[in-house]
Amino acid sequence: MSLFRKKNLADILAHANDEEKGLKRTLGAGNLVALGIGAIIGAGLFVRTAAAAGQAAGPAVTISFIIAAIGCAFAGLCYAEFAAMIPIAGSAYAYSYVTMGELIAWIIGWALIMEYALGAATVSIAWSEYLNQLLNGAIPYEWCHSPFESYTDSLGVFHQGIINAPALIILLLLTLLLIKGTQESAMVNAIIVFIKVAIVVLFIALGWQYIRPENHTPYLIPDGTAPVLDNAGKVIADYSGWNKHGWGGVLGGAAIVFFAFIGFDAVSTAAQEAKNPKRDMPIGILGSLVVCTILYILFGHVLTGVANWQEFVDPEKGREASVAYAISTYMVDYSWLATAVTVAILAGFSSVILVMLMGQSRVFYSMSNDGLIPKAFGELHPKFKTPYKANWILFVFVGLFAAFVPGHVAGDLTSFGTLFAFVLVSIGVWILRVKSPELERPFRTPFAPVVAVLGAAICTLMIFGLDSHTLTVAFGWMAIGILIYVLYSKKHSKLGK
Ligand code: ALA
Repeated sequence: MSLFRKKNLADILAHANDEEKGLKRTLGAGNLVALGIGAIIGAGLFVRTAAAAGQAAGPAVTISFIIAAIGCAFAGLCYAEFAAMIPIAGSAYAYSYVTMGELIAWIIGWALIMEYALGAATVSIAWSEYLNQLLNGAIPYEWCHSPFESYTDSLGVFHQGIINAPALIILLLLTLLLIKGTQESAMVNAIIVFIKVAIVVLFIALGWQYIRPENHTPYLIPDGTAPVLDNAGKVIADYSGWNKHGWGGVLGGAAIVFFAFIGFDAVSTAAQEAKNPKRDMPIGILGSLVVCTILYILFGHVLTGVANWQEFVDPEKGREASVAYAISTYMVDYSWLATAVTVAILAGFSSVILVMLMGQSRVFYSMSNDGLIPKAFGELHPKFKTPYKANWILFVFVGLFAAFVPGHVAGDLTSFGTLFAFVLVSIGVWILRVKSPELERPFRTPFAPVVAVLGAAICTLMIFGLDSHTLTVAFGWMAIGILIYVLYSKKHSKLGK
């Protein structure tokens, strides 16, 4: 059954520890937690909280955060077990190669492209939105939106996007940084993380006094809420679907804000660069998840208390750059904070993009070492020891999405790819426990079968909370992946040879 051929754990560990040929071990526990927070707090919090509140959950977006966090915590525990046990680049892809065999590993690797590459694209699109906000809308709509986006302003003028140029520029800058080195990238990341966490805490603390209880009532979007139309009469929010109002809406909201948690797993892609992966991987993964969950719930509570969730649907009010909108409209004493927040958000988005691009290049590196994708993806820079060719190819690929695809489309696909990986990692932990109970596990997922099954179940539920269009595109993407496997990867697999 060559489709299910598996890698031998001892062999891959020996290969991963060969620093002469492979990646350098430079990251400590602090770096890893910072890497996690660097990848986690970003567009999900600053853009999608408002989107989830406005389109599905209302003020109950806080509960959406809790549901998404529970799913992530279960999956996070499973990731921690794997990352400590199999500390090599490649994350979920690499784990499934050992547990479930080559085909499933390929499918996960393919889904991870959706997570990291499209994740980076989504956040670079959000970066562009906030940059324009900082510049008071100086960048014409046409040059900072995809050709699939259009809108009619209040003067009745129709605008059609051409290309998202700022998104491309930030991707280029970060690609250059990544090629320069992992340690340099980790240092830039740590500085940014400090700034963005400080700003989130400041918004929560200062915004608390501006919460108006009437904004939190009713807490769920009522059944029968009328759709919202734009200036041209086009429906921009429709509350009739099961996942757009009431408790269903809270679940739909969880699927939307789930994006905000993506990234803790990116810590695991750096396992091969961790100094002491057995101890530090669980700390990095779970530590960053806990810090962010607490901040998110408080943030959602304050944001929907300061501004009303209905304002987050209006393209001319809080739909884009919602936090800056809420501050400048309602927290007028702190209007300076709107600018500070925007600058911090731009920096914060950069760190998310950085870690996502880094994660993706490490997954490519791993897949290429296994022969499933061409060798170029695994070649390290002679001096910087980073997978520079993978970084460049990735720049082109991510750049195309960032420049030409609307942010919410890329964002929902990112969530799909991640959830899919989470499901398989959760199941994988259980499979390996049953099949190889004797292996050394520096970190053990507590209550393993229960946590693994619940993790897989909650994440599956969130997959179906995504809208049907996303699911269709995602399954199409997976079908293309399987075709490539059959035509290329299966024949070139090193394990196969
Ligand atoms: N969690 C990351 C973000 O919210 C992907 O931007």
